[in-house]
Amino acid sequence: MAQIVVTRPLVHGALEGLAPPHTVETGPPPTGSELSEEALIERIGTASAVVTTVADPVTERVLSSCPNLEMVAQYAVGLDNIDLAAASREGITVTHTPGVLTEATADFTWALLLAVARRVVDADAFVRSGKFDRWETRTLLGMELHGKTLGIIGMGRIGSAVARRALGFGMDVVFHNRTPANPTIIRETNSRQVALDTLLRTSDVVSLHCPHNDDSHHLLREDTLATMKPSALLINTARGPVVHESDLVDALRAGRIAGAGLDVFENEPDVHPGLLEHERVVLAPHLASATVEARTRMGQMCVESLLAYFSGEDVPYTVRSQL
Ligand code: GLV
Repeated sequence: MAQIVVTRPLVHGALEGLAPPHTVETGPPPTGSELSEEALIERIGTASAVVTTVADPVTERVLSSCPNLEMVAQYAVGLDNIDLAAASREGITVTHTPGVLTEATADFTWALLLAVARRVVDADAFVRSGKFDRWETRTLLGMELHGKTLGIIGMGRIGSAVARRALGFGMDVVFHNRTPANPTIIRETNSRQVALDTLLRTSDVVSLHCPHNDDSHHLLREDTLATMKPSALLINTARGPVVHESDLVDALRAGRIAGAGLDVFENEPDVHPGLLEHERVVLAPHLASATVEARTRMGQMCVESLLAYFSGEDVPYTVRSQL
């Protein structure tokens, strides 16, 4: 029998199947300082497993301060909030939820891309504020996507799903990946692998789909942003720290790039005030996997991993086996 802590309430049905003899304790949604290491240590207490989210700082201190912790089931695909090296040193098993949020995240990437390119958020505000008093030829002009180049940084599962959708929009797709990409995906998406610099110089839309790690930290910063076209749009549904946020604000203010669609931020939940002011920026609160379907399947994967672990079976979705 295991005591399992879930750091915040999940969607209905996500944890179905996690039943006695295991005890499951789900706390209220944490806010502000409750997202700290101390609060997480307190919440995990003497539990042997914890279901965590992207907002929980699963640091070395947390992992070494929870005496009975054997397993962390991350309710996400990304793992940059977890110190994986420390988990391995402590002998703690870490699992995550790859695959089931790919399509939801790709859809949301396109939602942001279209919103920025075609000014959907401005348009809604325009009508609501009573400004639509006549049809006009120059109102809220946007950028046409057909025939333009989409540059995907990180052609993994999500990047490939974004590329597949680009075919329907008649966009040319280039991508940058640290490793050679799967030839089937290249063929299916009619895309070309290029150097990062080429991608940044030639793309009309740059979309980020790489994990956040030492190599990708601040991949887009003053000098790399400066190589983008002044008419280009940046979309980020990956991780905030892949972009140097204040350099992005400077680039937007100076017109060195035209706009951005951001679902993730460098210091979540804080958002750089310069982004709030810019009219060609569309912002979302880290929502890309937020469909009932994806969030339910993510929970079910955590349950599968937890049940396998506590019955001594091979644990699916273990991070070690994926790295
Ligand atoms: C969400 O950001 C995830 O990594 O699943």
